[in-house]
Amino acid sequence: MAGTGKAHLRPDQDPLVRVEDLVVEFPAGRDSVVHAVSGISLDILEGETLGIVGESGCGKSTTGRAIMQLPGPTSGLVEIDGIDLTALSPEQMRAKRPKLQMIFQDPISSLNPRRTVIDIISRGLTIWGADNQTAQARAREMLSAVGLEPDVVADRRPGEFSGGQAQRICIARALILDPKVVICDEPVSALDVSIQAQIINLLRKMKADHGLTMAFIAHDLAVVKNVSDRVLVMYLGKVCEVGSPDAIYARPAHPYTSVLLESIPRPEPRRSTPRPLEAGVAELPSPIDPPSGCRFRTRCVYAQPRCAEEEPQLTAIDADHFVACHFPTAATARSG
Ligand SMILES: Nc1ncnc2c1ncn2[C@@H]1O[C@H](COP(=O)(O)OP(=O)(O)O)[C@@H](O)[C@H]1O
Ligand code: SF4
Ligand SMILES: [Mg+2]
Repeated sequence: MAGTGKAHLRPDQDPLVRVEDLVVEFPAGRDSVVHAVSGISLDILEGETLGIVGESGCGKSTTGRAIMQLPGPTSGLVEIDGIDLTALSPEQMRAKRPKLQMIFQDPISSLNPRRTVIDIISRGLTIWGADNQTAQARAREMLSAVGLEPDVVADRRPGEFSGGQAQRICIARALILDPKVVICDEPVSALDVSIQAQIINLLRKMKADHGLTMAFIAHDLAVVKNVSDRVLVMYLGKVCEVGSPDAIYARPAHPYTSVLLESIPRPEPRRSTPRPLEAGVAELPSPIDPPSGCRFRTRCVYAQPRCAEEEPQLTAIDADHFVACHFPTAATARSG
């Protein structure tokens, strides 16, 4: 399917998660629409972690929520384990919920401040019919698994915890339901840098222990580097590039991926490579009226007239490396 927007999907590998042509639009006043997500396709194999990266406002959270049907997309297919979630009744979807969990950016505000930790974590099980004693015993096990001492924290309330501890509680709450798919939406973005690695390591450990399939959303390529089996770069509701971490970090082919890589803080002095971003065009264009052709063209130093006329489609440039750009090697060729 090279040359189409779905070229990067792997039909031969029977992915656990398959998303095709996902579109999410929000009404924005009279006669206008926010094109938050405009035809994204992705797949995630069982046990795989897909990193989803792009700057704030590019549609990452909307994509994550649409996969989880919170709410569902405007159009497109969301298949998990062969079942199209968009076709399910509310009752059928409710039955699927425990297997699909999300972990959010702001852990403290996603926990009910009035409940105790043990209550918050065990509640997922009691809602689904477990007796209190069983649910509490399991919740204590989960607390230990996420590195919190049950005897110390069980009866405290969320307000008494740091952001990192609160995120551990959120992880325990999500995983007690034994999910298959977990979407982590910027799970460390609100945490101190010193805590971020601890939570990332915990998520990696929990993924291995529980056999999870994950999407890991971040606005920064550095954060997803060590957790992702593949990385998908988004810009203004579209996919720019998909590939292995090796391809994305060592051989980026989309000018926007190069911009994201350039913005990673590095301890050593930078080489003086030209940044593939038009000077003075720092803002993401409005998703109400996105640029024609390639949506990145208003900020791309390599833009040509063709970029305004024709939308670039995701195309294979190597095994498991796909890019949506008319001049894909430009960034590496000109700055290398
Ligand atoms: N409920 C909503 N109503 C209107 N616009 C929305 C809504 N949710 C998100 N948006 C808009 O959709 C775009 C994508 O948002 P979002 O998915 O939150 O981006 P990201 O998570 O990448 O920062 C943004 O322009 C945002 O303002
Ligand atoms: S298609 Fe054109 S504008 Fe878009 S990233 Fe490639 S070179 Fe830049
Ligand atoms: Mg977001």
